[in-house]
Amino acid sequence: MPLELPPPLARALRDRTIRKITLSERRPAAPPGLARVQIRPLALKDRPVWQFTLQIEQQAIHENLDLPQATRRLAQLLAEAFRQVHWSTADSECSARPPRQPGGSWQVHETPRQKPAGTPPPDAGHDRTKQYLIPQGVPCPFLQEMGVMNPQGQVLRPMMAKYRQINRFLELVRDALVELPRDRELRVIDFGCGKSYLTFALHHLLTTIEHRPARITGLDLKRDVIENCQEVARRLGCSGLEFHQGRIDGFEANEPVDLVVSLHACDTATDDALVQALRWQARVILAVPCCQHELAPQLAHASLEPLLRHGIARERLGALVTDALRALVLERQGYSTQMVEFIDLEHTPKNLLLRGVRRTHQPLSLTATRHQELLAYRSLFHLAETHLERRLIEQGLAEPRDPVTAAPAASTAADSTGQPN
Ligand SMILES: C[S@@+](CC[C@H](N)C(=O)[O-])C[C@H]1O[C@@H](n2cnc3c(N)ncnc32)[C@H](O)[C@@H]1O
Repeated sequence: MPLELPPPLARALRDRTIRKITLSERRPAAPPGLARVQIRPLALKDRPVWQFTLQIEQQAIHENLDLPQATRRLAQLLAEAFRQVHWSTADSECSARPPRQPGGSWQVHETPRQKPAGTPPPDAGHDRTKQYLIPQGVPCPFLQEMGVMNPQGQVLRPMMAKYRQINRFLELVRDALVELPRDRELRVIDFGCGKSYLTFALHHLLTTIEHRPARITGLDLKRDVIENCQEVARRLGCSGLEFHQGRIDGFEANEPVDLVVSLHACDTATDDALVQALRWQARVILAVPCCQHELAPQLAHASLEPLLRHGIARERLGALVTDALRALVLERQGYSTQMVEFIDLEHTPKNLLLRGVRRTHQPLSLTATRHQELLAYRSLFHLAETHLERRLIEQGLAEPRDPVTAAPAASTAADSTGQPN
């Protein structure tokens, strides 16, 4: 016999004023292993849904349902599996118990919520209208844990830039998902993960929003930072998310890696991340370089002297020259590569993201052309072989060549296509 939901719950569902619904007090006839159900509103790319999370033994099963489906599913779960429903809105905490006999009435309790002191007022700026992948107003456990959101799901004002950065990063990852395999668990590495705001965000996107099975590893040099991330992952119950302490260039994945992420890894650590990704032939690479110190002191160009004599200008040009060279190397190694803006320049000057997607087929002539461009580009600025190039040669991923002026060595991709050297 279908059960009607109590009117306040049906109304709050319809108006989407609910933050979270929890079902408790299992009935004896509940499906075996079904311990708990939580329901929350979620904004998918194309539609709002209610996400049901059914905890069955160690596994969390997600169902994304529209309003009529969610209403029916909730009524069914309350008729067959649980005796109590609890839901919270911005204004109140409510609970209800179904009627004991058919035709009886629900017992509903509503407790108005005291607004905690210091709750920030809703943001009046453009964030109120922009739809973020992690919406405001819906509590998100990892953002709460990291002090970006309060328990009501409001983003704390000082953390607004971080919140935007996280959402922007997730948009970039989501756009790249079409490139990744759908028929198996995704393997993802985040090199230089630091405090791992973005690693947890990645896990949230892949598992909670996109429902893609994924194993994600965050790696960083700093032991204390990694131990903290491990503890947070354990507390939040993030299955498939692990953290390791170590150096990027010493990390072994021992299995195919689909997506390599490296955000603001210092100086040539970005290059080490790129080399690993190229070694594994990762399908997608997302790298936001940081503090590029290698090339700036080497830059030499007579006509650019008026620019290069200013330290700050040399530093900035050095960063751009480095990143364009990285893009060129990725292209040469068979990756279609773009530079995209990561976040607004007003938040950080380190706002350039290199996005590489491995081509399924790279014509040798393109490899050769990119190689020639690389030599010409380095010679323009009188640059020696870079850390990235040297590491690729060490790994057997590129041919050894003389720096700057010399012609490529005998057997190269360029030679094999018959392109002029
Ligand atoms: C600026 S933080 C960025 C953290 C995080 N990715 C983010 O964007 O918020 C850079 C991190 O890279 C780590 N790192 C730098 N070089 C590394 C290397 N060779 N191997 C592993 N981690 C490295 C540092 O310890 C630091 O935590």
